[in-house]
Amino acid sequence: MIIAPSLLASNFGRFADETRRASKARADWLHLDIMDGHFVPNISFGPEVVRVLRPLTKMKFDVHLMCSRPEILLEPFAKAGADHLTVHVELGDRVTALLWKIRSLGIKVGLALNPPTAIANVRPLLDKIDILLIMTVNPGFGGQPFIHEVLPKIQQAAACRRERGLGFRIEVDGGINLPTAVECARAGADTFVSGTALFGQRQLGRAVRKMREAVRAAAPAPADCAALSR
Ligand code: DX5
Ligand code: ZN
Repeated sequence: MIIAPSLLASNFGRFADETRRASKARADWLHLDIMDGHFVPNISFGPEVVRVLRPLTKMKFDVHLMCSRPEILLEPFAKAGADHLTVHVELGDRVTALLWKIRSLGIKVGLALNPPTAIANVRPLLDKIDILLIMTVNPGFGGQPFIHEVLPKIQQAAACRRERGLGFRIEVDGGINLPTAVECARAGADTFVSGTALFGQRQLGRAVRKMREAVRAAAPAPADCAALSR
């Protein structure tokens, strides 16, 4: 079980301190949301921020590109210190080439899908990725409520993974707090991005630990998994 606080919900005037805070809180990954003002109606930050934060922590940098032209950003983010690069399946025909490019940069490959996008759209690509990022809000802003209608998609992804013997992570992102993280874990998620519900806590270490314990306890036993796929 991986807990990944999202920097988007941290204090934008203190990225370095907030990164150290997440690191001290024993978060597994730091999730970095890159928004271009075109793919989503918001702008966040670019590779330079990743570059200056990189020496501050050993946490994996999980970079989520909500961008219309990720092709121009893959190398800059790789050079800046991204450990994972995730692109959106909604970009269409270009996606396969983007996944290969990420792989060729020696970085973990992530593929994201928005709430209205069906699992069928990612199915042909599942053997090419390390992380499937299932958006549980419409991307663009932190602090939105979790969309419960996405839960069956998490179950479908878990069933596909099992049936095909694949090893990609199932990551959820948007509106993740203690109760919604538990719902996602029951459905088969193993990686939890959480912005507002974690960075909003004074005791971040305690919040990370509680979320990790809760999702561990909620994860389906292997026997339940088999039942779910039937
Ligand atoms: C939404 C981003 C999320 C966001 C989650 O577009 O992809 O990573 O930071 O924030 P919360 O947890 O506040 O919904
Ligand atoms: Zn994200």
